[in-house]
Amino acid sequence: MKIILLPESWASRIAAGEVVERPSSVVKELVENALDAGAAEISVWVEGSGASLIRVSDDGEGMVPEDLALSVERHSTSKLREEADLFRIATLGFRGEALPSIASVSKLEVVSRTKGQQSGYRLQVEGGKKGPPSAAGCPVGTTVEVRELFFNTPVRRKFLKSPQTELGHICDVINHMALAFTGVHFRLHHSGKLLYDYVRCARIEDRLRQVLGAEVTSGMAGFSLDRGRSSVSGFLSTAPASFPNTRYLSTYVNRRFVRDRVLTHAALEGYETLLMKGRYPAAVVFLELPYGEVDVNVHPAKYEVRFRRQAEVHDLVVEAVRLGLKQQAKTPLAKRDEPMGGLVGLSVRETPQSYSSFFSGEQLGFQVPGPGGPAAGQREMGTGFFSSLEILGQLLGCYLVCAAPDGMVLIDQHAAHERVAFEKMRGGIENEGVETQNLLLPQVLELPFAEAVRIEALFAVLDQLGFAVERFGSNSFALKAIPALLPPGDYREALRRMAAEAAEVEKGLELRRDLEERLMTIACHSVIRANRKLDREEIGALLTALDGVDFATQCPHGRPVIVEFSRAHLERLFKRT
Ligand SMILES: Nc1ncnc2c1ncn2[C@@H]1O[C@H](COP(=O)(O)OP(=O)(O)O)[C@@H](O)[C@H]1O
Ligand SMILES: [Mg+2]
Repeated sequence: MKIILLPESWASRIAAGEVVERPSSVVKELVENALDAGAAEISVWVEGSGASLIRVSDDGEGMVPEDLALSVERHSTSKLREEADLFRIATLGFRGEALPSIASVSKLEVVSRTKGQQSGYRLQVEGGKKGPPSAAGCPVGTTVEVRELFFNTPVRRKFLKSPQTELGHICDVINHMALAFTGVHFRLHHSGKLLYDYVRCARIEDRLRQVLGAEVTSGMAGFSLDRGRSSVSGFLSTAPASFPNTRYLSTYVNRRFVRDRVLTHAALEGYETLLMKGRYPAAVVFLELPYGEVDVNVHPAKYEVRFRRQAEVHDLVVEAVRLGLKQQAKTPLAKRDEPMGGLVGLSVRETPQSYSSFFSGEQLGFQVPGPGGPAAGQREMGTGFFSSLEILGQLLGCYLVCAAPDGMVLIDQHAAHERVAFEKMRGGIENEGVETQNLLLPQVLELPFAEAVRIEALFAVLDQLGFAVERFGSNSFALKAIPALLPPGDYREALRRMAAEAAEVEKGLELRRDLEERLMTIACHSVIRANRKLDREEIGALLTALDGVDFATQCPHGRPVIVEFSRAHLERLFKRT
């Protein structure tokens, strides 16, 4: 015989490995238990990396001594009553594995008291061996202390990263939960220092500010969409704030923080062309679904979930994010709560210094009339935000300078043109076909074999976008027609880039819509050049066109179309406040 039954102590240590990967896993499980116990205040103490000490204290419902003794046993939980409960989980925990797992790889002490008891009880477990509960003075609630994590699993211990890194994970865990439970007061103490003190908040905006900071939060706006018994809500960064990774993108299902591929993809797709390549939004997305629609029992640490109707969930999130952003793009910057187009947003996005150099006096050789100032009312006011701007002139061959009711607006004419062309093209596709114009002379381009194959595969999509391409010899192609809304010009380079882009999209998402959008972006970008003098008529037409399109505040690459300097900004710049 070659098979043996593992001794219980080995088996539990192996099982613990799935739940307790590192100190932050302990914090996560303990804070989840505190939340499930209805705590209003949760305090976490961590020493160093957390391996020597983690203590979590709550003012929740507590446990009677009998429950206390059971709580550290494997598969013991108060959160499921019948088998069917497993398919409608409303609590954060349910597996009954956290306390026993932690107890098997550490020295654990739980002290707990319920409202009905005169005194509390203490239970100690060392490496899985528990003592009897003994009376202990304590307030109502529960305190769990975990010492010498991984003391009996030296290999695990070796895998721990630097104390800073482990502390970073612990901070993430607390921040993720704090965003979903705004009514709970969270504290984090590290080696004697109070790191976080998130008092309870009535509004989620306030919690966002505590967790993400004022700067990031000021660039975010709320959104929500209800669809039957499901809903999506949260906060989205509106450009120009963006980040080099998905660190500020958090997704939740029924208040549980999850790392879910479907949700992340959907949120990013919702942003579509609003972000530059390689840039990510700050977004907090709460998805609420009937409990039966989601299986949370697919990952030991419960970080992943599975949806019964994955495609529907995906599309719901895309739609919610897109609508939220559209709404936001339609609101003139000055009307929003916080200044988002100005200093705050810009400094988040790119180098802040460029701002002051950009603002040297000589480039600003004009006057900014305030509301009701000399120029106000001179021009017939349009109804849209852009067409009601007063055109002051063109700067450096590519920026339009306009007076807005509450300050000054700069518009990047190239970015604006691109967005307008892009939206027209998209509109054309949605309404059956883009109008084309034949080229007098076909533009012939030669491609290396691999790209030739790729572009051939793109013929159908290109055709839909209004580009008529035909094979012309072995590796040569002839472009015979282009979309009517694009100006005449040389489109060979654009075609080359489309072929290259197609290769990249293939690897990632095969979604056709995605491909179309990227190709349109290239098409629009390649042809409309900056540094062209526009006359007033042309500027007026461009502004009117901007009012007619969605997402007018960003070009299809995600660069801003508009930067606004509100009165408050200007006053700050001139130190008047
Ligand atoms: N902080 C706490 N306050 C009150 N009860 C708790 C607390 N932590 C754990 N418990 C009780 O111990 C049980 C076991 O906890 P745990 O091992 O985390 O499993 P689960 O959370 O999956 O039920 C819980 O179901 C709960 O009844
Ligand atoms: Mg639990």
